[in-house]
Amino acid sequence: MTPPTVDTALLQRAAADIARSRRTLALTGAGISVESGIPPFRGKGGLWEKIDPMKYAHIDALVKDPETVWRVLIKDMKEVLDRARPNDAHRGLARLEEMGLLQTVITQNIDGLHQAAGSRDVIEFHGSFARQRCMDCGRKMATADVELHELPPRCRCGGVLRPEAIFFGELIPPEHLLRSQQLAAACDTMLVIGTSAVVQPFASLPVIARGAGATVIEINPEKTPLTGEISDYLLAGKAGQVMRALVDIIEKELRETRP
Ligand code: APR
Repeated sequence: MTPPTVDTALLQRAAADIARSRRTLALTGAGISVESGIPPFRGKGGLWEKIDPMKYAHIDALVKDPETVWRVLIKDMKEVLDRARPNDAHRGLARLEEMGLLQTVITQNIDGLHQAAGSRDVIEFHGSFARQRCMDCGRKMATADVELHELPPRCRCGGVLRPEAIFFGELIPPEHLLRSQQLAAACDTMLVIGTSAVVQPFASLPVIARGAGATVIEINPEKTPLTGEISDYLLAGKAGQVMRALVDIIEKELRETRP
């Protein structure tokens, strides 16, 4: 069933672009997890409307006052992420990978929902919330195993624990940045789903893909700085609805063309 807002002809065009593409990438942002109950960072109801990211999501704040950063930001994030489950958009990308129509997901999200939906090749560009690391001895542990009866939680060595997510002011892991740039330069088709495309260096990846001649397809209820400049077209709608419709069209066409 085509979502009310999405142009049917554009859905058909996207299905054809994906079906004939030999190397397809999906880039995702917070918007793909909104239908899983995780608020975005920017725009209506965005997290950064409620708290100042430079005061609570910057590495300097975490080092200087970890108790406040845990109390104001990380504790609530853990509660929201503990409840979140994959939605049709995450499942749709996993299905495309299973059909051999999607090579890699490069996500800014730290919620682990792509892997939970079954995606196997996922680059967590901004790290992951699934694991914590001791800021003194470096010991790692699963976030699920961390008790929050004291803030900040501590390692058995006494050091403060922090999520393995990238805070503002920290570098993207070089191995993730390099592989993502290489994949973007080599892909035929790039899906850009649920990102405001304002944070660098992630937002440069669609520009690299476009410069290398790839077809760039956005999925977002709103326009972004990429729309009309870098992306070939925008499927204007919620990621879950659009991906469900897109995968349905592709699977139907595969069934009809299978000898
Ligand atoms: N389906 C698809 N897109 C959606 C949906 C939805 N249901 N709901 C909202 N969106 C779109 C919004 O229109 C917006 O363009 O998702 C985007 C969310 O943008 P941001 O909140 O800025 O998230 P993101 O682009 O991932 O932010 C990038 O900024 O704060 C840092 O590290 C944080 O990784 C994050 C980075």
